[in-house]
Amino acid sequence: MIAELRSVEVDYGRRGRALGPFSLGAAPGEIVAVVGPSGCGKSTALRLLGGLEQPTRGEVRRTVGRGETAVVFQAPTLAPWASAGANVALPLELAGVADARARADAALERVGLSGHGDASPAQLSGGMAMRVSLARALVTDPKLLLLDEPFAALDALTRRRLVEDLHRVWDQTRPAVVFVTHDVEEAVYLAGRVVVMTPGPGRTAAEIAVDAPLPRPEGFRTSLGFREAVAAVEAALALAETAA
Ligand SMILES: Nc1ncnc2c1ncn2[C@@H]1O[C@H](COP(=O)(O)OP(=O)(O)O)[C@@H](O)[C@H]1O
Ligand SMILES: [Mg+2]
Repeated sequence: MIAELRSVEVDYGRRGRALGPFSLGAAPGEIVAVVGPSGCGKSTALRLLGGLEQPTRGEVRRTVGRGETAVVFQAPTLAPWASAGANVALPLELAGVADARARADAALERVGLSGHGDASPAQLSGGMAMRVSLARALVTDPKLLLLDEPFAALDALTRRRLVEDLHRVWDQTRPAVVFVTHDVEEAVYLAGRVVVMTPGPGRTAAEIAVDAPLPRPEGFRTSLGFREAVAAVEAALALAETAA
């Protein structure tokens, strides 16, 4: 496992339990999606996997360092005063890498934004800004990529394109990916395994394997396998809601 939560629980003071007991691991090269109701602890679980927060109880095991982990959040976190290229180069510059800007341009090319390095974040559409965030996450060639509802603010068509882009760039270096989303179809399309959480404090309600190659074959979205997996995840979510 690249990173693993073992029966973790997180308490936030007097507000009580935010997560768990919850277990989740990401194997090398695997794409896992996590879906669950708002407030169940998805973001908390992601922060634990990234080593950004410690559990109250339970254990977090990581075989990757901070520098080998990249996190992408929903809200655009690009520095508005710096160009797209400078934003992407920033993690490399912080690490003291010499050819930071050249590698940033290569990362922008990987997400379909070659030639946009000099654009300022304000000039970019929401989809382009998210591509820049993805490029910034990928520029250090992370072994673990954590994404917290990254496409939630975007329209459906842009989201679908970004999922295809994510598969394409994932396929080049195959990092382990943990992807949190509200969107069941997005989860099933994206991941080899979908973990469904209960309402907060979140536990595992179900785990659904999606048996099709990654990146997805042509026509996967209209296949029976896709629709059956979507139905299974939706049923598990509904059951977890009623049981709560
Ligand atoms: N820093 C914090 N302090 C206090 N409570 C928090 C904090 N972060 C999250 N929570 C609470 O923990 C629970 C889980 O939050 P979160 O992980 O953000 O859920 P999700 O991402 O699934 O919507 C929620 O009830 C939330 O209000
Ligand atoms: Mg969240």
